[in-house]
Formats: sequence, structure tokens, C-alpha cells
Amino acid sequence: MDKKVLITGASGFIGSFLTEGALKRGYRVIAGIRPTSNRQYLADPRMHLLEMDFSSVESLTTTLSGLQSTGLSPDFLIHNAGITRARRREDFFHVNAEFTGNLVQAIEKCDLKLRKFLFMSSLAASGPGNEQTQVPIRITDPPSPVENYGKSKLAAEQIIRETARFPWIILRPTGVYGPHEKDYYNLYRMISRGVEPYLITPDQQMSLIYIEDLVKVVFLALESQIENAVYLVSDGNTYSSRQFSTAVKSALGARTISFTVPGLIARMLVTFGELQSRLFHATPLLSKDKYAIISRKNWLCDVSPLKDELGFQPDFTIDSGLPVTLEWYRNNNLLK
Ligand SMILES: NC(=O)c1ccc[n+]([C@@H]2O[C@H](COP(=O)([O-])OP(=O)(O)OC[C@H]3O[C@@H](n4cnc5c(N)ncnc54)[C@H](OP(=O)(O)O)[C@@H]3O)[C@@H](O)[C@H]2O)c1
Repeated sequence: MDKKVLITGASGFIGSFLTEGALKRGYRVIAGIRPTSNRQYLADPRMHLLEMDFSSVESLTTTLSGLQSTGLSPDFLIHNAGITRARRREDFFHVNAEFTGNLVQAIEKCDLKLRKFLFMSSLAASGPGNEQTQVPIRITDPPSPVENYGKSKLAAEQIIRETARFPWIILRPTGVYGPHEKDYYNLYRMISRGVEPYLITPDQQMSLIYIEDLVKVVFLALESQIENAVYLVSDGNTYSSRQFSTAVKSALGARTISFTVPGLIARMLVTFGELQSRLFHATPLLSKDKYAIISRKNWLCDVSPLKDELGFQPDFTIDSGLPVTLEWYRNNNLLK
């Protein structure tokens, strides 16, 4: 019997790897997109593309019922669509939380028989760890997100916990890197041009995961017997921002001038960015939210439950994942 998986946000960085990973694992893939979505990485003819409008429960119900009547009723649903940048708090909550609630309602309304619903949350929903002790964040710690993105993801998690009557699993991945990702790419580009900047400190402690390892976790979680559980996701290593930049530099063979932007100047950049965003309705590169994340010094996370309960073993560290990533950018003429 073939397994069918519906993946929302299939056109994005993580979504496109999830669709590819699902096909490789023998799933029939339904790729949830918008009419405006870029389909560059969704060209495999085995994929069924499905336009979804998360703003309306009725529209979602009709779309999901359509799948049922055409024999494409999914056994698994990965709700990966979401926004990581927004100008306003309400935009984060609208897309990340309310849309998740609409999807849950539509699933219930058309009585979709899901074997599992996986929600792509974020480590931001946990909030940073203690900077003095540098003890990694644990899943048992009470969540205390410090910015709107993390708060909206936590709100979405609460909706799932309180309203879903189907089996679910929630993943809170740390920063994900890999080919055709957009945020870390800004740093790769600066380093390739000889500039190695740090905001506030080069010693921010962080966790990371290579995209293929995240895909591995997703399918382990989907196929495991474990239900109604939440996991932090990283490759389990501790990296400093300096270590990350050094690994990028070494993979690129770049020589750089390194400098640290002090806190006061960083805050001035935030104020300027926020003002610019209000005037021109653009999302600032360094928003208050991004600053709240970057200025925290402990983004380590304890992934022992992921290893012990789901049997996850990462295949990559930054020393193996970054060279593959940077080669992709170079092959696509996006880096020198
Ligand atoms: N990247 C990370 O480091 C990271 C870490 C932890 C968690 N996450 C989570 O992982 C998920 C995917 O992130 P990503 O890095 O792959 O981001 P991405 O490349 O920006 O992809 C986001 C996806 O969500 C879709 N989407 C956004 N707004 C939507 C809306 N209003 N209606 C329908 N679809 C919408 C996008 O569709 P369009 O292509 O049409 O815009 C796109 O397919 C997000 O939920 C994010 O919060 C990411």
C-alpha cells in the first residue's frame, strides 16, 4: 500500500527538501503551494501540486475533500508552511498560528484519517537558554520565547495540543543550513567578499542542523510509534558563531577582515531598520525580532530525547555540511 504525504510550504527551502526526501522514501507526495509559489524545485512529475488557501477553513475543507474524492487522501501531513520574517507581530500570528488553527479545523471537518500530523515549529518557541550556565535548552524547560516569531510558533503548538483529535508530533528545529537557503547565504556572501562580521560577540553559542539531517528526523518522527510529543532538533553539537564563520571561510578558501558590531551600534541599526520598515513597508534585515535572537548567547539544545526515543544519528556536522552547501552556491554562480 502506498503512503501519501501532504507537505505544506513545499516551495520553500525546507519544503523542497522534504518533498524530495519523501519521494526517495517511496511516498506519494502532495506538495501544498500557493498560486504565486516558485515551482523551481517542484518539477518532479511524480509530485501532485496542490494550491491551498490557509486563510479560509471553508476553502481548506474543500481542497482536502477534493483529495479524498480523488483517492489522494493523505496518510501523513507535514505542516511546514510558515514565515520567519515579518514586519508586524500580527503577521507572524496570522500566518504561523491562525493558519495552523484553520488547517486543524479543516482536517477535523472533512474527517481526514491522518496517521500523523507533523508541525514544523522552531527552537525559537522554546526561547534561549541560560547565558550564565550555558546549559543547553531542554524540551522540559518552560518555554519563554523572546520575540514574535517564537511566540507565534508556540501559539500554533498550543492550538494543535488543544484542538487536534488526530495523532501529532511537533519538531522545534534550530537554524537549518543547506543549499538554496536565504538567511545564512547573506553571511556566506559577505565572507566570500572578505568581510567577517559579528553582532555583539563572536562567541554566541549555537546549535545547527544540515537540511538532509532535518529531513531524516522528520521521517523518523512521522514513521515512529510516538504520538503527541515535542522534540528539539539539532545535530547535537555546540558551535560558536566564530567557529561557524571559520568553517565557511575554510570551505571557501577566503581571507577576511573580521569585526564585531557593538551592542549600542546594533541597537541603532535596529531602530533605523524599524523606521525604514515603517516608512517603506519593507521587512528590515535586522529587525527587533532578529536582534532579540542574535543578541542571546545560548542557543544550544539538548537532543538526547531525539536520539534515545527516535534513534536519530546525524550524518553531518558543519565540517561536512558546509562544504556541500557552499559548493552548491558556487555551482549556481551565487558565490565567488
Ligand atoms: N530555516 C530555518 O532555519 C528554520 C528553523 C526552524 C524552523 N523553521 C520553520 O520551517 C518552515 C519552513 O521554513 P523555510 O526556512 O523553508 O522558509 P521558506 O523558504 O521561507 O519557506 C516557507 C514556505 O512557507 C510558505 N508560506 C509562507 N507564507 C505562506 C502563506 N501565507 N500561505 C501559504 N504558504 C505560505 C512559502 O510559500 P511561498 O513559496 O509561496 O512563499 C514557502 O513554501 C517554517 O515554518 C519555519 O518557521 C525554519
